[in-house]
Amino acid sequence: MGELRFAILGAGHIAGKMARTLAFLRNEVRPYAVASRDIGRARAIADESGFEKAYGSYEEMLADDAIDVVYVATPNNLHVEHALACLVHGKHVLCEKPFALTADDARRVFDEAKKRGLFVMEAMWTRFHPAARLIDDVIASGEIGTPRYLQATFGLAISGKERVVRPELGGGALLDLGIYPLNFAAMHFGLPDMSRTEAMTSAATLLETGVDDQSTITFDYGDGRIASLSTSITAGMGAYGRIAGTLGCIEVPALTRCEGFIVRSVPSGNERRVECPFDFNGYEYEVRAVAKAISEGRVECQEMPWSATIALAGVMEALRRQWRCTC
Ligand SMILES: NC(=O)c1ccc[n+]([C@@H]2O[C@H](COP(=O)([O-])OP(=O)(O)OC[C@H]3O[C@@H](n4cnc5c(N)ncnc54)[C@H](OP(=O)(O)O)[C@@H]3O)[C@@H](O)[C@H]2O)c1
Repeated sequence: MGELRFAILGAGHIAGKMARTLAFLRNEVRPYAVASRDIGRARAIADESGFEKAYGSYEEMLADDAIDVVYVATPNNLHVEHALACLVHGKHVLCEKPFALTADDARRVFDEAKKRGLFVMEAMWTRFHPAARLIDDVIASGEIGTPRYLQATFGLAISGKERVVRPELGGGALLDLGIYPLNFAAMHFGLPDMSRTEAMTSAATLLETGVDDQSTITFDYGDGRIASLSTSITAGMGAYGRIAGTLGCIEVPALTRCEGFIVRSVPSGNERRVECPFDFNGYEYEVRAVAKAISEGRVECQEMPWSATIALAGVMEALRRQWRCTC
C-alpha cells in the first residue's frame, strides 16, 4: 500500500467515485478517511472502498494528524472555506472544480498554501487524461495544419439537482459543466487576451433562481483563431469537442471521459482513431499527479497550475457578472 494518506471531505456523488479510484490505487496511495456531516454516509463510502476511518464531522477528520491530503468534494460555494480549513490543519488539498467563485478567492487559497508550503490543486481531471497530451501532440505535429477553430460543448439536463440551481450553493451551468468546454479551450488554445474588448462575447439564459441555465461563449484570439463554447443544465447537448485546422480536424466524441479521438485529414479524406483507454475511471491520473508532486515537494502541478485556476475563475466571474447571475 502507498504511504500518502488520502481523506475525502463530503460524502456525496463524486466522493463515492473518488473513493473507488483511491481503492483502485491502493498500491500507490493509502485510502485512509472519509468525513461527512452524517457518520452513516461516511461509513457507507469508507466500508464500500475499504477506507480505514469514517468521521461524522469535517472538523473531527481535519484534527487527525495522520492525514496527508484531503480531497474536497462539497458544493461549489464551500470549496474555498474547506480548502482553507484543510491548509490550516496542515493538509495538502485536491479540491473539486470550480475551485473558487472568484479569482480573488482562488488567490487567497494559493497564498495560504504558499505560506504553509502545502500542495493545492483544482481537480480538473481532464487535464491529466492521456488524451490531453496526445491531442496537443497532434496539433504540434502539423497534421491538422494551422489551428483555426475550436468547439466544445457540455450540456446535461440536470436542473432537477438542487446543488446546480441554487445560487447560494454556487449553482449554474457555467460553474458546473461549462467549466469543461472553457478548460478544453484553455488547454489546447489558451485563453485570449481579455484586455481586448472583442476577445469574448456571450449569450446566456437564466433560471428563476438567478443562475445561468445555458450559454454560448465565443473567444476571438485576434490571430485568426476562434473558439465556440456552449453549456446547459436544461438541454441534453452531450459532451464533445473539435479542433479544426487548415489541413484537418481532431474530433473528441467524449469531452470529459476522453478515451480516444479521431483525426481527419481534409486533403486525403483519411481518418485515424487514437485510442487512450483509462486504467480505471479517469480520476486515477490526477491522483497520481498529486501524489507525485507532493512526494517531490512541489506545491502545484504543471498540468493544472495555480495560474490556470485563477484565469478560469476570472473568466467565469466576468461572464456571470455580464449575465447578472445571482451567484
Ligand atoms: N470531477 C467531476 O467529474 C465531478 C463530477 C460531479 C461533481 N463534481 C464537483 O464535485 C462537487 C460535489 O458534487 P456532487 O455531485 O458530488 O454533489 P453532491 O452529491 O450534492 O455532494 C456534495 C456533498 O457536499 C456535502 N455538503 C456539505 N455542506 C453542504 C451543504 N450545505 N449542502 C449540500 N451538501 C453539502 C454533502 O456531504 P455530507 O453531507 O456527506 O458531508 C454532500 O453530499 C461539486 O463542486 C461539483 O462541481 C465534479
